[in-house]
Amino acid sequence: MIFSFKFSVSALRRGVPPSYPHVVRRGGCNTAAFMPEAAGFEGVSGRAALQEFSVSNSEDFWAAVARQRLSWIRPFHTVQDCDLSRGRIKWFQGGMLNVSVNCLDRQVHICPERVALIWERDERGSEVRYTYRQLLEMTCRVGNLLKRHGVRKGDCVTIYMPTCPLAVASMLACARIGAAHNVVFAGFSADALAERIRDAQSSIVITMNQGVRGGKVTELKKTVDTAVQSCPTVRHVFVAMRTETLVPMTDRDVLMDEMLKEDVVCEPAAMNSEDVLFLLYTSGSTGKPKGLVHTQAGYLLYAALTQRYVFSYHDGDVFGCVADIGWITGHSYIVYGPLANGATTVLFESTPVYPDPGRYWETVERLKINQFYGAPTAIRLLLKYGDQWVNKYDRSSLKTLGSVGEPINTEAWEWYHRVVGEGRCPVVDTWWQTETGGICIAPKPSEPDEEIVPGMAMRPFFGIKPVLMDTEGKVLTANNTSGALCIAQPWPGMARTIHNNHERFIETYCQPYPGYFFTGDGAYRSPKGYYQITGRLDDVINVSGHRIGTAEIEDVVNQCPAVAESAVIGYSHDIKGQGIYAFVVLKKNMKIKEEDLYKQLNSVVSEKIAKYACPDFILLVKRLPKTRSGKIMRRVLRKVVESDLDSLGDLSTLDDPAAVQEIIEGHAKISMK
Ligand code: WTA
Repeated sequence: MIFSFKFSVSALRRGVPPSYPHVVRRGGCNTAAFMPEAAGFEGVSGRAALQEFSVSNSEDFWAAVARQRLSWIRPFHTVQDCDLSRGRIKWFQGGMLNVSVNCLDRQVHICPERVALIWERDERGSEVRYTYRQLLEMTCRVGNLLKRHGVRKGDCVTIYMPTCPLAVASMLACARIGAAHNVVFAGFSADALAERIRDAQSSIVITMNQGVRGGKVTELKKTVDTAVQSCPTVRHVFVAMRTETLVPMTDRDVLMDEMLKEDVVCEPAAMNSEDVLFLLYTSGSTGKPKGLVHTQAGYLLYAALTQRYVFSYHDGDVFGCVADIGWITGHSYIVYGPLANGATTVLFESTPVYPDPGRYWETVERLKINQFYGAPTAIRLLLKYGDQWVNKYDRSSLKTLGSVGEPINTEAWEWYHRVVGEGRCPVVDTWWQTETGGICIAPKPSEPDEEIVPGMAMRPFFGIKPVLMDTEGKVLTANNTSGALCIAQPWPGMARTIHNNHERFIETYCQPYPGYFFTGDGAYRSPKGYYQITGRLDDVINVSGHRIGTAEIEDVVNQCPAVAESAVIGYSHDIKGQGIYAFVVLKKNMKIKEEDLYKQLNSVVSEKIAKYACPDFILLVKRLPKTRSGKIMRRVLRKVVESDLDSLGDLSTLDDPAAVQEIIEGHAKISMK
């Protein structure tokens, strides 16, 4: 004892920390230091064992994590009460909490002056920081303003705003007073917005006078004005000012500046674990988007845990997720996950190429971002501009690079890893969905020296048990096989229902493989048991990471007076991942110039849905290939577009096989242009 004391003192005097050269380090990392809860999980050592434990002792795992990581107003009495086959999903029942307290008050309690948000405004170099104390005050003021205008617990507030601090404060203000929020991506048209406001039965909309992105101004308030004309439930529209341009206001409208008159204290509502936190609309395989419902405790816990462990987030890091808050990625990894962990989170208002293709990396250098989370489509675009735009800036702050929304091809993955991350940052390809609430499959967490395979999401997160199904609904147990990706047991972050349509929830996710959650994606499991997502199995496509149902586009195209019917498919696109190809049949004796028709179709799609849903190609055809029962054979159309004519399959079941020949010739002409 005396000897070792002397040893340490003399070592310290020389300015060297004591070391124990004779002791060999064995057994990797201390599991409890990695996850303190694991200290209570008997015999669990290492990340793989922890994953295994989280799946086979799911209740113990989630109970321990929920107790430690969330601040409860009242503890829960039942960890879970779920029956996937009937679409019943309940976590942490009996528990009460307030999500905004978990994201704000407890951080203010520990460190009020820590920066919560860095708003990276469109205008480069004009970022604005908000501390946790300021964000809490802003949230309380908005909460009080909403209450003053009649918003009550259980109401739903629609937020139509780009990524900005007031949007975050509005989301958290809803959580504070017990209202649900419904954030609608600010790129959606008036019609799409109106449909979502009506379905959510919102009485309040929060928006901005104008949006600014990539140096361009968008008329958000004007879009809201048009939308609410067909939304009789809307009582008030709150308007924040992003620019100095005044917009026409009516009696219904309230300037967001009114919040300055409100108190900076707003009592948090005590919410049940399973009360609704938010709705978020996403596309499915029918024409009507679905409002997925996420609830309080389970969602927050899952967002927080994944943000920490997938990205190796540590206290004091600056977390840069460059998504839009209008999508689930923004909800979970700009707002709820990072704030629940007390992180500094970046709100990126601009585009990857504004004012030049160095924007992301200049932002990384200036804000000293530690974790960068972006979309493959942006990476593919930047790759084409060349390495010089990356190398100009200091990226030494970067520790982890993330990818989300669509498959990342090997070339883009390698470039992200080698050029952006200088070969020293793990790249995590994260697979998940609006429905899953948070990341379900990602290379991390894993032991620090374990391999990461380019372009593969690889490993299930804690509590996630993926399975692959064959066409008959049997579980495929072997490796080196492909099938429909399902998740075998419930997890706290999963969506609970579709707003006003639990039947559709059950039909879409629970019935295809009874007892399992069906993701709609296909996947391959490698010989080593790693997962790789192969793409959607339904009629949903992914354009620049934006999910859109082909049926939604067809519905709109078919509304054009000249159009008799149409079929829309996705095809592989260099930058966007998938592009949109529309086959259109005109009504008999319809005379319209092709050019005019294209213009008409594009304008109707951007008016009814959004610009990103406009077709890249439109091919006028006389007939669509159909089965004798009248079903459009989209598979055949896909093969034609992929120039895979050898595997068109048996066309004899088609109503009119000659239709295919005409389409092959038409496509050949288009693709030569
Ligand atoms: C696709 C986005 C391959 C997938 C978080 C999924 C991916 C849909 C990946 C969900 C990935 C998401 N690799 N495909 N890493 N991540 N997808 O709801 O088809 O907007 O079903 O959620 O995007 O899109 P959503």
